[in-house]
Amino acid sequence: MCGIVGYIGNGEAYPMLLKGLKSLEYRGYDSAGFAIVNKGIAIEKDIGRIEDVEKKIDLSMLKGSAGLAHCRWATHGSVTKSNAHPHADCSNKIVVVHNGIIENYSQLKEKLMQKNHAFSSETDTEVIAHLIEEYMKNSGFEEAVRNALKEVNGSYALGVICADEPDKLVAARNESPLIIGKGSNGMFIASDIPALLEYTNSFVYLHDRETAVLGKGSIAISDLEGAKKNFKVSRINWSREDAEKGGYKHFMLKEIYEQPRAITETLNGRLKNGNVIFEEEINLSDKEILEIEDVKIIGCGTSWHAALVGKFMFEELAKITTEVEYASEFRYRNPIIKKNTLVIAISQSGETADTVAALKEAKKLGVKTIAICNVRGSSITRAADGAVYTMAGPEIGVASTKAFTTQLAVLYLLTILFSKARKTLNDRQIKDMIDGIRKIPLQMASVLNEDMEIMNCAELYHKKTNSLYLGRGVNFPIALEGALKLKEVSYMHAEGYPAAEMKHGPIALIDENMPVVFIAPHDIYTHSKILGNIEEVKARGGIVIAIATEGDSEIPKKAGHTIFIPKTLYTLSSMLAVIPLQLLAYHIADKLGRDIDKPRNLAKSVVVE
Ligand code: AGP
Repeated sequence: MCGIVGYIGNGEAYPMLLKGLKSLEYRGYDSAGFAIVNKGIAIEKDIGRIEDVEKKIDLSMLKGSAGLAHCRWATHGSVTKSNAHPHADCSNKIVVVHNGIIENYSQLKEKLMQKNHAFSSETDTEVIAHLIEEYMKNSGFEEAVRNALKEVNGSYALGVICADEPDKLVAARNESPLIIGKGSNGMFIASDIPALLEYTNSFVYLHDRETAVLGKGSIAISDLEGAKKNFKVSRINWSREDAEKGGYKHFMLKEIYEQPRAITETLNGRLKNGNVIFEEEINLSDKEILEIEDVKIIGCGTSWHAALVGKFMFEELAKITTEVEYASEFRYRNPIIKKNTLVIAISQSGETADTVAALKEAKKLGVKTIAICNVRGSSITRAADGAVYTMAGPEIGVASTKAFTTQLAVLYLLTILFSKARKTLNDRQIKDMIDGIRKIPLQMASVLNEDMEIMNCAELYHKKTNSLYLGRGVNFPIALEGALKLKEVSYMHAEGYPAAEMKHGPIALIDENMPVVFIAPHDIYTHSKILGNIEEVKARGGIVIAIATEGDSEIPKKAGHTIFIPKTLYTLSSMLAVIPLQLLAYHIADKLGRDIDKPRNLAKSVVVE
């Protein structure tokens, strides 16, 4: 859960490392550090955010054309200067930055201490530097890295430099993200693509248990035995502007506003002549689609909420029994999976440790798997049999927004595909579904026009300490998502519940200090029930904010505030209804002066268990 960037080339390393690292700060921000090769290796690091470290140390004196940088989210060892990365061996000649967890570090440390290695931190990472030092007694630099890694259990994305071999940067990965950037003026490594977009659009994906030796103009990849591996250079069409704030105060706000475009991109090329076309992305034949008996969807956090919406769609329209599981729970029980089950893993980053592990568990059980993911070449896309990309572009804000709605769009397209193949819907219904989603980008833009009303609610209620989000059917997961958004960026306590469950407990919490957000787009089955629930809240003095469908004349009579969303199919209403909740969370957090893009204690991808 840290950020790594590395460079070797003809340019000045430090400014590029700094820029790259700043864009990775969402991954961890309790300390930062740099190591630059120049007649030895200079290391500078301290606790705090990168800008704090810049204020404490004159980093501009770091001169040299190869180096590493790291921002930390502490796992092993508290937040101290000595625990900040980079870490070095006894001689300060071998320097590493690491993201991941070395599970057997205490055994390795003990062994190394018996051989008189002196440790200066409490981290698991430092053992790697000393282990490489140990192996370098009998072998060259890259071989020593490979040998050291053979002894290591756990996850790592690693950058290593060595003062005795200043023309090389060695990188390695296992279950933690790391990409190689091939620039015109040097080679890079980084934890994610946006960190390098300023310098290159050409990337090489490193696979698990592979090492790369980078020179100023060369890349060589091998496995841990040293056997050379072929690799492909992929071009990514994300631009640098995509990964910048573009005039918005925060990435979260920019990403909320990007949703119409993100959905358009996600639909692009996938709807043709009344059909959903996934080419070979999902890697399932029509016969295999017909044979699916069950679907299991796994994910964490917001992606898990998307999975719940997917369950509603698959069961309601494609008539496939669907279960949703937290990836972290799935991987540690013995799930019963029938032969014809399709497992779908959803993840924005594609690197969430629990989701990757759960997907691998499912694969061991021999069933077909698909990843729905936003990041090309990420771990889940490589582990799954098929991968469908959400075309949200880089999502930098820790709170997931556009990734969520594009996940819903992909799940909706899969629903159409499955429903058509299984003939659970007729041509007219399929056409209505396709027409419905085509309108979503424009409708999202009109929801964004409600921002002033939402800001007004934020102004009135940002000092409250608790809130409740209630929804039913396809919008129950939206209640959960709205509450999660508020919690993570504003630190205000919020709970999401199925609206009818309120009477079974949460109603006891309601008083004049409790805002209750009803997600109540029109639905013939439950609309009157939701109206009843609103009355119940009002009768107890609660403050009602409702998300309703344009033209609904009942809800505004009862709710204190009504935010309207355009009329759409019920299954699509969740994609529109979530936007006011994202904005509400954003504006409340902004009024409270929170660090919205990097909320406390959180990191964008949870690559540790
Ligand atoms: C969302 O706002 C959260 N930051 C978090 O719940 C996130 O959705 C979760 O960690 C899963 O991440 P993933 O989609 O990258 O796997």
